[in-house]
Amino acid sequence: MIKEATYLSDLGGPANEDMLIERKRMPVASGAFRWTEAYSVNIALLDQQHQKLFDTVNELIRALRTGEGNSALDPVPSRLVDYTRVHFAAAEALMEKHDFPGLSTHRTQHEMFRRKITAFLEEHKAAKPGVPVSLMFFVQAWLKQHVQKTDKQYTAFLNARGER
Ligand SMILES: [Fe+2]
Repeated sequence: MIKEATYLSDLGGPANEDMLIERKRMPVASGAFRWTEAYSVNIALLDQQHQKLFDTVNELIRALRTGEGNSALDPVPSRLVDYTRVHFAAAEALMEKHDFPGLSTHRTQHEMFRRKITAFLEEHKAAKPGVPVSLMFFVQAWLKQHVQKTDKQYTAFLNARGER
């Protein structure tokens, strides 16, 4: 199924999207999801963690392209959950340390993401078909939007307080 799909809209997105995610015709081709400077939040640790998250999504994309979606879903999402836990905690700790005014809104977005991922894992455990593809599209779209629109809001504030 994934091999015939060329665009995000061909496959549809997650069933119960609760965020406004751009639904462009996003290429599925390999190389489409790479961390570039465009995603930099200008804080080395957080950029490294974002790169790791992008890498994990790419692992899932590769597994889906080679038809290993279901077996790949077992280790990849638990890694995603682990990395996001570490990353969200690190980012929130920095915002907290400097009393970043956008912290509570930001925290809510992280919490919504965690809940969504947990829901995907439960659906997969319940043998719902198509979960790996939905999970991949959800995380990909969420990361792109969250890093570029929400994470970048703390860059200038934290940079001005010596965080790089
Ligand atoms: Fe964030």
